[in-house]
Amino acid sequence: MKINDGTFRARYGSWAVVAGASIGLGAEFATQLAARGLNVVIVARQADRLVELSRQLSTTYQVQLRPLPIDLSAPDAPALIAEQTRDIDVGLLIYNAALSIIGPFLDQPLDQHLRELDTNTRAPLALAYLLGQSMRTRRRGGIILMSSLSAMLGSALIANYAATKAYNQVLAEGLWDELRAQGVDVLACCASTITTPNYLASQPKRSRLGSFGALPPEAVVTETLNALGRQPSLIPGRSNRLAAFFIRRMLPRRVAIQMMGQTLRQMYSQQ
Ligand SMILES: NC(=O)c1ccc[n+]([C@@H]2O[C@H](COP(=O)([O-])OP(=O)(O)OC[C@H]3O[C@@H](n4cnc5c(N)ncnc54)[C@H](OP(=O)(O)O)[C@@H]3O)[C@@H](O)[C@H]2O)c1
Repeated sequence: MKINDGTFRARYGSWAVVAGASIGLGAEFATQLAARGLNVVIVARQADRLVELSRQLSTTYQVQLRPLPIDLSAPDAPALIAEQTRDIDVGLLIYNAALSIIGPFLDQPLDQHLRELDTNTRAPLALAYLLGQSMRTRRRGGIILMSSLSAMLGSALIANYAATKAYNQVLAEGLWDELRAQGVDVLACCASTITTPNYLASQPKRSRLGSFGALPPEAVVTETLNALGRQPSLIPGRSNRLAAFFIRRMLPRRVAIQMMGQTLRQMYSQQ
């Protein structure tokens, strides 16, 4: 982790909002931001986890935490978060929450696909818009949208999820160019497998490609925070950058799509 020399806090403080912070990567983002001296608003549905994380981080790092138990798939969630952070200086937004439905597209209820769209695209768009306003006025701030390597191309069994992650990447890259002249850094993090508790609990079967380049949450968060302000998007992990280069540049697209589908089928036992 980068030493907390105060520069990160000066650029992105004094408060960060981490949307999707009760467990896994989001909880690790909150932890490393607290370690860098930022106060953190943590948003998720599980209030008890948020309260416990707030207690731990405020004790360990002597920063303020503000737990907001909110369902990000609800249409009014972004406005509610903007309202409940109006009294503080939010210099950094990390949109980490995601719903990831895995399974044959036509077998899932349509309202679940729409909830995936709301959680993964509608809420980050609205939050970037609402919290970005004061960052632009102050001419200082940062926005990180969690994408995924699945944003690279369509994948069977996660067709809608991958499409939402492509949306995050493309939105962040466009905003990176548009907002940097106004002092606001934007980054998409296109991660490969991250060994978060929920990922491990989903117990995907081993497949050579599925477990390739897996990284712990600590490494992904450190690399992501260090990349903010330096580039429009990041693929954490050198081997993952090489794999992405190979898939995007060396393989015909239809071959790459079928290869990803085969990997997903192996991991989740679908024919
Ligand atoms: N794990 C991987 O292998 C991997 C790979 C590539 C990209 N990513 C991306 O990295 C991010 C984090 O992954 P993860 O494995 O840490 O995910 P996770 O364990 O499922 O955690 C997601 C977080 O978002 C919150 N959340 C989910 N839906 C929400 C909703 N409707 N309203 C409010 N909060 C909500 C969850 O808290 P509550 O349940 O308390 O609401 C939790 O804190 C996601 O964007 C994912 O797409 C993950």
